[in-house]
Amino acid sequence: MPTLTEAELIEVGRALLTAAKIPAQEIDPVALHLADANMVGHDSHGVMRLVQYLQMVDDGFVKPGAPVERVVDGPAFCVLDGHFNFGQVIAGEGLRLALEKARGQGTATVFMRNCNHIGRLGAYTEAAAQAGFTAVMAVNAPGPGGVAPFGGIDRRLGTNPISMASPAPGGAVVLDMTTSATAEGKLRVAHQKGESIPPGLIIDGHGNPSTDPADYYNKPYGAILPLGGPLMGHKGFGLSVMLDLICGLLSGSGLCRTDLPRGANGVWLHLMEVERFLPRAEYDQWITTYIDTLKSTRTLPGVSEILLPGEIERRRRQLRESEGVPIPDETWRQLTELAAKLGATLPTIA
Ligand SMILES: NC(=O)c1ccc[n+]([C@@H]2O[C@H](COP(=O)([O-])OP(=O)(O)OC[C@H]3O[C@@H](n4cnc5c(N)ncnc54)[C@H](O)[C@@H]3O)[C@@H](O)[C@H]2O)c1
Repeated sequence: MPTLTEAELIEVGRALLTAAKIPAQEIDPVALHLADANMVGHDSHGVMRLVQYLQMVDDGFVKPGAPVERVVDGPAFCVLDGHFNFGQVIAGEGLRLALEKARGQGTATVFMRNCNHIGRLGAYTEAAAQAGFTAVMAVNAPGPGGVAPFGGIDRRLGTNPISMASPAPGGAVVLDMTTSATAEGKLRVAHQKGESIPPGLIIDGHGNPSTDPADYYNKPYGAILPLGGPLMGHKGFGLSVMLDLICGLLSGSGLCRTDLPRGANGVWLHLMEVERFLPRAEYDQWITTYIDTLKSTRTLPGVSEILLPGEIERRRRQLRESEGVPIPDETWRQLTELAAKLGATLPTIA
């Protein structure tokens, strides 16, 4: 299994995107975002996506060079139409505008429609938190997704992720999670490795519980369960429905559409500037005491410490900065094959 540094991961993205003739200004938003996802341990959202993204360019679903257009604009809100450029390009512009507007107004909401896969939501909310904002970001799939409604068998919802981040000493508290029992990318990684998955995440095409990711990818198609699984899935289902309404309807992306390209997303980003609501010193004092209180609890057997949302990703980054990122052989084979097809030169890995 090849092990890559962050610089090498970025180089893989730059080499492939350049060879695919992606406009120069759109290369780094994608390449840096994917490498960062690998660095924090979310390999399902890392460089393995380059194969899928460039296939989507070939298929005409991703439209490099398409303008990111402001179709609705107000002092503290706007709606962007991404015209199906790369999701990272659209969401990067959405974050830039949200920061600009929230610095002026104290708070801002940006919706994005006709957006492709934006990657790991926590990257955007954490960036906002580090700039002094509490951030909420969510994504819906306005077309048919892979998640069954609570009690259903058929696919109806997206994995509809939500991330919330807030400044904290030493970085930020960053929740970043799907409202489904698993991210689709995690199934894809297990499927690629030929591994089984824990129970309670998916059902097969007949509604039976399954631990084989192939049941999701092969006909008759199974479905991912809502967050909470067979027992408590009504909560994940409820969250997912509400995110469909916010990200899908208010963004103008729509719901349950069958006329959209595969992978189309509606995106919601909301920022609140901490300093506008209370002095930052007071905020820092409260959050420090709060974190200390949470972490001071006795722990269950086998648990060494309480981790805050986002902490595991920060630790994985520290580890991967020193040890590198192992890329599964199958992912590396696909990237190498793509490089050969495009005439790209990938970095030589020791
Ligand atoms: N762009 C898209 O359309 C899309 C769709 C689905 C998922 N995603 C991304 O997929 C990624 C994975 O989502 P996921 O739901 O599988 O995440 P996950 O289950 O790995 O983590 C969910 C949250 O739990 C926290 N966490 C993990 N272990 C913890 C522990 N032991 N103690 C305390 N907190 C802990 C994490 O910091 C994170 O905030 C996310 O980055 C998400 O943005 C993106």
